[in-house]
Amino acid sequence: MTRFCRTPSVVMFTGFLLVTTVAMAQRGRGPMGPGRGPMGAGRNADPVFAADRADYQFLLQHRADIRRTVTKIDNGVETLTESDKPEVAAILQEHVPAMARRVKEIDPIHLRDPLFAEVFRHATKIEMTYENTNAGVRVKETSADPYVARLIQSHAEVVSLFLKNGPAEVHKNHPLPPKP
Ligand code: HEM
Repeated sequence: MTRFCRTPSVVMFTGFLLVTTVAMAQRGRGPMGPGRGPMGAGRNADPVFAADRADYQFLLQHRADIRRTVTKIDNGVETLTESDKPEVAAILQEHVPAMARRVKEIDPIHLRDPLFAEVFRHATKIEMTYENTNAGVRVKETSADPYVARLIQSHAEVVSLFLKNGPAEVHKNHPLPPKP
């Protein structure tokens, strides 16, 4: 009797697992995190990741044509990142909304770097607004939490280091700011 009662719930649970797993695999995001689907889909199979990577690699390649100022404010940063090359400005204007979406939806990237992992761990406390300028993008990123504000500032400094040092800087791990 007990056996008969249990069977439907076991079948339903197995069905639920199957549907969830297939849905995640189709999006290229497995239960182990983005891009590690049970069907063996790597991050390369994730079109959103591939597009984001193409953009930041383009920016790194064209870093000599990009200028950037970072203004620290009490609760975060204001940044202006621009290029006189319209094709470079266009990619900047793509990269920032793509990364703002990742912060908003907590869809992390570059988790290998502890600083990026920490940014995404605190993503719900980050406010990010941006507007296009004629040559690029102006960003304001803040947090009411003083530690997260410091984290935002550290990340902004690392973006500037990406511009200064290129891919070598992307391969580095960056330290977390001290906790207050
Ligand atoms: C030369 C290369 C790059 C440029 C010019 C650039 C530019 C920017 C800009 C303007 C922002 C807005 C925040 C700010 O201004 O500080 C930003 C945010 C972001 N970028 Fe990039 N980026 C570059 C490379 C990368 C790379 C290599 C990654 C990761 C693999 C990355 C991931 C992110 C993420 C996750 C954010 C949102 C997090 C946050 O702003 O706190 N970027 N980037």
